[in-house]
Amino acid sequence: MDVKACIFDLDGVIVDTAIYHFKSWKRLADELGINFTLHDNERLKGVSRVRSLEIILEIGNVTKTEAEQHELASRKNEWYTEMISKMKPDEVLPGAKEFLQLVKNAGIKTALGSASKNAGIILDKTGLTSFFDAVIDGNHVSKAKPDPEVFLKGAEAVQVDPKFCVVFEDAIAGVEAALAGGMKVVGIGSPEILSKANLVVSGLSEMNLEKLKAV
Ligand code: BG6
Ligand code: MG
Repeated sequence: MDVKACIFDLDGVIVDTAIYHFKSWKRLADELGINFTLHDNERLKGVSRVRSLEIILEIGNVTKTEAEQHELASRKNEWYTEMISKMKPDEVLPGAKEFLQLVKNAGIKTALGSASKNAGIILDKTGLTSFFDAVIDGNHVSKAKPDPEVFLKGAEAVQVDPKFCVVFEDAIAGVEAALAGGMKVVGIGSPEILSKANLVVSGLSEMNLEKLKAV
């Protein structure tokens, strides 16, 4: 395939922020008396902040008004942003920077397509901002993955037809979003879980231009 743009999810593909999300949700769950485990945390990957809170409240069988939910999500985000503001370039996942550079050198556009409203600060702290021709994050979209909005906006921002785009995703909802947008998708993680992806690798360190073109 003639790949003209690569669109990357952030959390779980470029950096591993799941542990920071977990620590801050866990702190909130503890305050609410909800037993929230690392296993439960898997369900939050790729899911928006609002939906993540709903899932935690469902786990604890706890009901909150919309105003209370808003306050709880903000509190979690304060703890989370405090943690990610200390992130360093060495927290970029193995092979991510190298693959981004490889793709750019090949004249292929790069875009970020993340559900996170904190993508800008993460890219800044890890020194990755300049690797992306466009950054589309949770502040630019109204429909969460598996809706393709975030990836379609990414393709539009780099002016590439979706059929020439390859998306890199670690979450099932993200794989579905890419396919719904008419794009090819490389799953990052386990082939059992990401079975709908066109190719699954364990991380960007496993990628090269040959594999990209063969997707
Ligand atoms: C996604 C993460 O990238 O961003 C989710 O995989 C997270 O776990 C979502 O809930 C929203 O992030 P934020 O930073 O806007 O709270
Ligand atoms: Mg992800």
